[in-house]
Amino acid sequence: MTTSEKVHGQWSSRLAFIIAASGSAIGLGNIWKFPYLVGENGGGAFVLVYLACVAIIGLPLMMAETLLGRRGRQSPINTMAKLARAAGSHPAWRFVGWIGVLAGFLILSYYSVIAGWSMAYLFKVGGGFLEVGSAEATQRAFIDLKSAPDVQMVWHSLFMAATILIVSRGVSKGIEKVTRIMMPGLLLMLIILDVYAAGTSGFSEGMSFLFKPDFAKLSAESLLIAMGQAFFSLGLGMGSIMVYGSYLPDHVSIARSSLIVAGLDTAVALLAGIAIFPVVFSNNLQPGMGPGLIFETLPLAFMHMPGGALFGTIFFVLVFFAAITSAIALIEPAVAWLSENKGFDRVTASIYAGAGCWLLGVGTVLSFNVWAEKSFFGKTFFDAIDFLTADILLPVGGILVAIFAGWIMKRSESAEELELGGLYPYWLLLTRFVAPAAVAIILLHGLGLF
Ligand code: PFF
Repeated sequence: MTTSEKVHGQWSSRLAFIIAASGSAIGLGNIWKFPYLVGENGGGAFVLVYLACVAIIGLPLMMAETLLGRRGRQSPINTMAKLARAAGSHPAWRFVGWIGVLAGFLILSYYSVIAGWSMAYLFKVGGGFLEVGSAEATQRAFIDLKSAPDVQMVWHSLFMAATILIVSRGVSKGIEKVTRIMMPGLLLMLIILDVYAAGTSGFSEGMSFLFKPDFAKLSAESLLIAMGQAFFSLGLGMGSIMVYGSYLPDHVSIARSSLIVAGLDTAVALLAGIAIFPVVFSNNLQPGMGPGLIFETLPLAFMHMPGGALFGTIFFVLVFFAAITSAIALIEPAVAWLSENKGFDRVTASIYAGAGCWLLGVGTVLSFNVWAEKSFFGKTFFDAIDFLTADILLPVGGILVAIFAGWIMKRSESAEELELGGLYPYWLLLTRFVAPAAVAIILLHGLGLF
């Protein structure tokens, strides 16, 4: 048994890794964020750019990050330090791991608040407390939730407590067990919602909004947002996949697992879009209404379904599952580092990391009400943290991972880990040139730097 196995444990099989990595990838990013970003950024053209980013940048990087993790077999910070030493390179590479710990920490702080909204909806729909008589009523219910910091704090705290509880139980007993049951259920619920959406009057309008590209609607910033969303949704650029890769047994194919995880993640995002936009157009709602999109539209769909209250409840339970399996991945790099370097046991490490995220999350809660007018670099607190993480830190982390895996690590080592055969040169080309250059251009252009 290696030290890593003794400290953190290991996945019990390839399937366990695929399920856990899909659990990390599939989350609020697919069901909540993807649809509202598509809505805000004009539809089909955004979707197309997103798909290109997943294929050209996301997939090779997911393979790169997993291979670094498996080669290093420690928390991202220590993995990067170890691999840099082995390659005779500068120890500063450990900062890639630090970017990851920081990004995960910042993302989880707001992720928990939004997951809290889905818990509030679970409770409201399940208990029959939600006003669903009309589109106006569901919009009002959402505004009420957003403007109540105390209610949001309760759900935010509950979500964070649940995350800490699962993470503190360790890799295979906690994470594996939970994801194995929850992810297939989520897929089934989305398909039921899609079937419903297909029968609504706004179906064809919804589909053309989602799939018919109008490039006039695409700005430099929306390009950056599409790429940031690809990173966010696949869970790349921040060490989560690296840390999951570090628990991966040697015989498992990284390429095949990455392909499956990226494919499932993309499928779930598209299925969520197909479920939501027809409902938006059938009810004369605006697709660009922002973070409230799913909370204002889906209750309307449920209202019209036979057994809608039951389906609605199950749906929000599954959104909660999707969120918590990602939350675990977001906090894992910090927990792994605290237990390796500070000598904390998993329980203490989880509590420290979770408490820090919880505190920062208060800023996001307030950004929807008391601090709504407060500007942080021209954005609300929530928008600023979201932009800093998804659109800056993750892409920067991604470029560095690509450079390390493509240029610093010995080819013999990456080839041995990936076992791609004749496809290896293509991976190398994408990882060395295409991905870092594309990310750098989109990043600088999106930030208005050229
Ligand atoms: N991929 C998750 C989602 O789409 O909701 C969010 C996420 C999880 C981002 C894990 C980053 C990460 F490391």
